[in-house]
Amino acid sequence: MTALDPGGVPAAESAWQRLRPQLAEEAVTALGAAEADAFLTRVEVALVDVHAPLAALYAGRADVDDLLGRALRTVLAAAAARPDELRLLDRRREIDPHWFQREGMQGYVCYVDRFCGTLGQLPARLDHLAELGTTYLHLMPLLRPREGENDGGYAVADYREVDPRLGTMAELEAVAAALRRHDMSLCIDLVLNHTAAEHPWARAWLAGDPAYADFYTAYPDRTMPNAYEATIPEVFPDRAPGSFSWVPEACGGAGGWVWTTFWSYQWDLDYSNPEVTLAMLGEISWLANRGVEVFRMDAIPFMWKRLGTSCQNEPEVHDLVQLLHALVRIAAPAVVFKAEAIVSPDDLVGYLGAHERERPECELAYHNQLMVLLWSSVAAQDARLATAALRRMRPIPSGATWVTYVRGHDDIGWAVSDTDAAAIGADGDGHRRFLNDFFSGRFPHSPARGALFQENPLTGDARISGTAASLCGIESALERGDEAALERGIRRLLLMYSVAFSFGGIPLLYMGDELAMRNDAGYLDDPERAPDNRWLHRPPMDWDAAARRHDPATLEGRVFDRLRRLGQVRRSLPALRGGAEPTVLDAGSDRVLAWRRRHPRSGSFVGLANFSSVPASVDADTVTGFGTYRLALGSDGPLQVHGRELVVPGLGFAWYAEP
Ligand code: GLC
Repeated sequence: MTALDPGGVPAAESAWQRLRPQLAEEAVTALGAAEADAFLTRVEVALVDVHAPLAALYAGRADVDDLLGRALRTVLAAAAARPDELRLLDRRREIDPHWFQREGMQGYVCYVDRFCGTLGQLPARLDHLAELGTTYLHLMPLLRPREGENDGGYAVADYREVDPRLGTMAELEAVAAALRRHDMSLCIDLVLNHTAAEHPWARAWLAGDPAYADFYTAYPDRTMPNAYEATIPEVFPDRAPGSFSWVPEACGGAGGWVWTTFWSYQWDLDYSNPEVTLAMLGEISWLANRGVEVFRMDAIPFMWKRLGTSCQNEPEVHDLVQLLHALVRIAAPAVVFKAEAIVSPDDLVGYLGAHERERPECELAYHNQLMVLLWSSVAAQDARLATAALRRMRPIPSGATWVTYVRGHDDIGWAVSDTDAAAIGADGDGHRRFLNDFFSGRFPHSPARGALFQENPLTGDARISGTAASLCGIESALERGDEAALERGIRRLLLMYSVAFSFGGIPLLYMGDELAMRNDAGYLDDPERAPDNRWLHRPPMDWDAAARRHDPATLEGRVFDRLRRLGQVRRSLPALRGGAEPTVLDAGSDRVLAWRRRHPRSGSFVGLANFSSVPASVDADTVTGFGTYRLALGSDGPLQVHGRELVVPGLGFAWYAEP
């Protein structure tokens, strides 16, 4: 229900009536009449999305009218400072609001230093990305981190400076501009759950500066930390157990337990304090004006704490993200948010705005479920769990879309729900243990070469590190010189990417996967990285290997060409646009994942992926019906037809589309 003023006017509306005359004047002065008109219209369109979360989060603590005024003035200042070129982009995006849902969207993810050295050198490498069909580039954390250990850049000491080892903010802006010229959008991480302990906000808070009071949380003794930790799962149990770290300077110098969900040097911001939210809004809109188009909202499920819960996915997290989203887009309508919420499927869809009533939240979210289920299917050579779990997922709003991927910079955590496992007669715990055994290579005859991450001896939990190629068996096959195993490894990799490219959503290629790059143990020589085996799958780009990408006699040639083809064909299939949901089908084979996509503007699409190494027959009627579909792409050319059955080759895939 909308809150009403005593006079019966919705609260948002009456707050706006009070604020509008003054703000309109300020907007005309700051932006000129035409831009001011557009700005005020955006405010009016987004008014409820700003006001409702502000009231829900802060009504008991601050004056909501006052917060609304301050928030809108922050975005007005950002709108006034927005460079002309980005205003043009805003205009294009407002004309074409579903730009990120196009079938031509395709992402690439890399570390600047590992990919090309520095930001200055990046434009010279755009050819490689263009060749793959990239339209969206996620550069891994590049803002200035703390010195020493920094969790791969996720401990930010300054949101307005680039890590000097990578370049300068001016160079980042130049990269964004170069990307725009190539029709590519820049995505960077916004680490907003925490800052580095060295961030000026953290220093000021510690020093007792009243302007930064309550920016972070500290307790003088273990009473509250113990109470919270009773229900909070640990993120890094082996080296950073618990969610609090002892900081001798905290609590006015008496020492205190500071909230640190991740590593001890990453201090959680306290978003129950509206000053924190406004401060972060300032940082995001400033970064948007540098040319960032997609913000990867890092670790957002953790942003709100509540005693007696896991302190993840609390309703206020959604209020916060909705609030920041609505505000940032008033200043910079070209910007979209991407949720990094590695949570259960039931919790995940909320980040795309799928609540009891839809609300604009993030446009994009990592399809962590699909990723996990792909690996699970590969290990089990069986697609039943994927079929059951994907069918059970709630639909997402039509204005949002997934980001689909096979591998990223993090470990793989086995987010397989017990309910889904039970649906196919399996035991969740047992299956998760099997997956760890399989991908760490402990399972008999497993070709995978992964490593266990954060193994917890108390609970038996663990996650998996390793590059896609190594997890697929390519590394072990090369070592053994086993050509048949190598081909199977390549097929596994392509099979998974074939799903990521056609399930619906923006497919992401993780740097090096296009060359089947294997695990890199080099991190062990660097004391800052050695304790974190996620570096195993963050190898430096091998440009010598890249030079072999067009030679079909090489491993790189075999992988690169087929991956590029996935993108080419994807771009020709409007059914792969976002905005419509896939339907997971029962194709009559346990080994085959089958899904159909329909988009109102095109015929249907059916994808088939056989996760076992032997051929599998599927019912042709269920899959395509007869006659109207044509093969758009297949791992092995047209499928054989036996009676009313189609035969999908072992570790093979097929894409069918209506003309
Ligand atoms: C996200 C990142 C991960 C990092 C964590 C803390 O989950 O992907 O690499 O450790 O956030 O910022």
